[in-house]
Amino acid sequence: MVARVSTVAFQGIEGVPVDVQVMVAPGKLGIQIVGLPDKAVAESRERVHAALHASGLALPPKRVTINLAPADLPKEGSHFDLPIVLGLMAALGAIPGDALAGYLVIGELNLDGTIAPIAGALPAAICANALGKGLICPADSGAEAAWAGAEIDILAPRSLIALANHFRGTQVLSRPQPAIRAAPANLPDLADIKGQESAKRALEVAAAGGHNLMMVGPPGSGKSMLAARLPSILPPLSPAELLDVSMIHSIAGQLSGGKLSDRRPFRTPHHSATMAALVGGGLRARPGEASLAHHGVLFLDELPEFSPPVLDALRQPLETGTCIIARANHRVSYPSAFQLVAAMNPCRCGMAGEPGHSCARGPRCASDYQARISGPLMDRIDIRIDVPAVSATDLIRPRPAECSADVARRVARARERQRERFRELGMEETGTNARCSTAVIETLAAPDAAGLQLLRDAAEKFRFSARGYHRVLKVARTLADLDGSEQLGRIHLAEAISYRIAGERLSVAV
Ligand SMILES: Nc1ncnc2c1ncn2[C@@H]1O[C@H](COP(=O)(O)OP(=O)(O)OP(=O)(O)O)[C@@H](O)[C@H]1O
Ligand SMILES: [Mg+2]
Repeated sequence: MVARVSTVAFQGIEGVPVDVQVMVAPGKLGIQIVGLPDKAVAESRERVHAALHASGLALPPKRVTINLAPADLPKEGSHFDLPIVLGLMAALGAIPGDALAGYLVIGELNLDGTIAPIAGALPAAICANALGKGLICPADSGAEAAWAGAEIDILAPRSLIALANHFRGTQVLSRPQPAIRAAPANLPDLADIKGQESAKRALEVAAAGGHNLMMVGPPGSGKSMLAARLPSILPPLSPAELLDVSMIHSIAGQLSGGKLSDRRPFRTPHHSATMAALVGGGLRARPGEASLAHHGVLFLDELPEFSPPVLDALRQPLETGTCIIARANHRVSYPSAFQLVAAMNPCRCGMAGEPGHSCARGPRCASDYQARISGPLMDRIDIRIDVPAVSATDLIRPRPAECSADVARRVARARERQRERFRELGMEETGTNARCSTAVIETLAAPDAAGLQLLRDAAEKFRFSARGYHRVLKVARTLADLDGSEQLGRIHLAEAISYRIAGERLSVAV
């Protein structure tokens, strides 16, 4: 007799249905798993054996063959343990054969028969819903799976015995409830930063439109400090974005306790990050930091210290909003619509451009350091600002600074205007000005006559690329949104252009 249990294999954030077929036949004692299992799946043989023994079920002295169909799809991960053991229990008559028909099953086994949490419960639940099935998953993954929909039947047992009792009707498993992680109470606040008013303004503009931002300044001027305050002014994720972000974090196994958070991701990889860590990949084509920052911020501190090929790998996701990982045996894509925030010193000694300072290594100190960042990557950065050393007056007798909550209110209002505008155009998925397509931004950000003249002059003088031209329009649109104005004026374009050319000024100055 062959028992069948449904489960999934993951390709990117998609779940592909997999059929686990278990046959117990006379023959030499042993368990054989076929159907392209990886090492973790092949090892499940030992866990299944021990967990059955711990649950009081002895394997009969027969030959057990387990087939994972379709046979040509690679199966990775430890979540195949539970479907395998349930198929075996059904084949042995320990649970009713038809009990599993309406469920998709995922879970890892401990040797004592308890069920351990796994990565990917949310995409698996969404896959089960699409197939019109319920889901059996580990207890600790239940809260996460429950987000896939109120109508899905979810069983989240702690152990094999609890599940068998549920099917026998002696113990009823209640449906897990979706849980949300409470927002951290003590996020760093913008009020901590003394002076740096223009840098704070640029941070607000970047947050309002989702623009890429680069801060350049000497050591200790507060660049890392400013970036760390960005989460406190960003609006929370919308319900659709929350689900998108959580799918990626679920696949990466980063949803602690199965709780979702409506805070925008803020990822801060160290500059020693490898290509696979940043854009995804590795043996199991896992999502990288760029994908984990989807709908949030990827903060690269000390930008020139990252390896140049790793930085250039970000060019494609910055433009398209997806990371595509192609390997000989598979090709997966992860959504990666992140906002890039970068900080750097102008040169290796860090003081180039400061009044009265001359680098010991001469002009090469700055040019060599900045050459580690390619032109095309710089071209994708909409707002470039200088963050000069904070003055002694500001430090000793600071003016009262605005707190994050006030700035967050203005940012939320500007984002709401953008969302409303895109909704009217039927482009809800665009969300922010930075993500808007070039054709649409030309109509949404048509400047008045004076603004157009200024833009034309600046584009000629500073030789804007086509991308640069469109990005100036996008930033100007955000500035008008912050002002609550539909019309784009000369003042908005002037500020947007100043953000664009700050980087060019810097390299000319040193
Ligand atoms: N504007 C400021 N207001 C208050 N404190 C500041 C300010 N700027 C810097 N500091 C102080 O200096 C410390 C260092 O700041 P921060 O790490 O942000 O500098 P940085 O610009 O990132 O320097 P580096 O280039 O070396 O990374 C902060 O922890 C804070 O104590
Ligand atoms: Mg720093």
